[in-house]
Amino acid sequence: MKRFLLLAAIVAFVTPAPAGAGEAGTKILQNRCASCHNLTGPSPQTIRELWKRDAPDLFYAGNKFQREWLVEWLQKPVRIRPAGVNYLRTINSAPAPKEGEKQKEYDVLYGPVLRPLQHLTLKPAEAEETADALMDLKAGDSFLAGMMLDNSKQVSLEEGEVLFDKVYGCLSCHQIEPNYGGFTGPEVYTAGRRLTPEFMLSYITRPKNWDSKIWMPNGNVKPADLQKIVNYLILLSKENFNAAN
Ligand code: HEC
Ligand code: HEC
Repeated sequence: MKRFLLLAAIVAFVTPAPAGAGEAGTKILQNRCASCHNLTGPSPQTIRELWKRDAPDLFYAGNKFQREWLVEWLQKPVRIRPAGVNYLRTINSAPAPKEGEKQKEYDVLYGPVLRPLQHLTLKPAEAEETADALMDLKAGDSFLAGMMLDNSKQVSLEEGEVLFDKVYGCLSCHQIEPNYGGFTGPEVYTAGRRLTPEFMLSYITRPKNWDSKIWMPNGNVKPADLQKIVNYLILLSKENFNAAN
C-alpha cells in the first residue's frame, strides 16, 4: 500500500500539467525532429563530432529565429546551406595542379547530390505549434546580452556589399543572391527574415560562442561596420529573390 502511494505520488509529480501552449509542438520535436536535430546541446565539441553532424543544431532556436519565418519554412522548406550542412561531402576542392598541369576547377558543387532539399513538411497548425516549441529553446540567452541593433547605421545595398565582400570577405562563404557567393555557410539573402538582428550581431562577433568548432572565423568586424552589415542583411532580405531550389 505504501509503495502504491509512493508510486501514485511520483506519477502525479511527473505527469505534465494539462495541455498548455507548446506541448503539442514539443511532442512533434521529440517524435519527428530529434532523430536529426540536436535539441538539447551542447554543440559538437570536437572536429570529429562536427563532421558527423548532419542537421543544424536547434537547441538555441528561440535565440536565433524569427517565429514568422519558422512557421513559413516548416511548411515549405527550401535549402539554406547551398552545399548542405557538411560542405566537405558535397564540394570538390581540387588539389593544386602539378607542374605543367592546368588547375582543375575547384569549389565545384556536386549539384545532383543535393537538390532539391529533402525535408519533412508540416501542416499549418503543426508548424505553428512546432514554432512555439522551438521558440522556447533558449540555451544561448547569455550570448545575446548587450546586443542591440542600431537603426541609425543604415547603408545602401551597394555599400553593404562592399563591406560584406571586399572589406571582410564574408562572400567567400555566404551567398547574397541565389548562386552568387561561397558554399560553405548558410545563404544570407534571407538571413534578415530568418534570424533576429541580435543573433546576427552576436554570431558575427563570436561564432564559436554558439557553435564551438564551427569554421566561420571571428572576423574582427569593427562595431560600426557590424551594425552596418546587419542592417545591410535586413535590407537585402527585402529583395525579392527566388529561392535557390
Ligand atoms: C532527416 C533529417 C531531418 C529531420 C527528421 C528534420 N530535419 Fe530539419 N533540417 C535537416 C537538414 C539537413 C537541414 C539543413 C537544410 C539546409 O540548411 O539547407 C534542416 C534544417 C532545419 C531548419 C533550419 C535550421 C537552420 O539553422 O538553418 C529548421 C528550423 C528545421 N530543420 C526544423 C525541423 C523540424 C521542426 C523538424 C521536425 C518536424 C525537422 N527539422 C526534421 C534535417 C532534418
Ligand atoms: C570560412 C567561411 C566563413 C566566412 C569567411 C564567414 N562565415 Fe558566416 N558562417 C559560416 C558558417 C560555416 C556558418 C554557420 C554554419 C551553420 O550553421 O551551418 C556561418 C554563419 C553565419 C551567420 C548565421 C547564419 C545562420 O543562418 O545561422 C551569419 C549572419 C554570418 N555567418 C555572417 C557572416 C559575416 C557577416 C561574415 C563576414 C564578416 C561571415 N559570416 C564570414 C562561414 C563563414
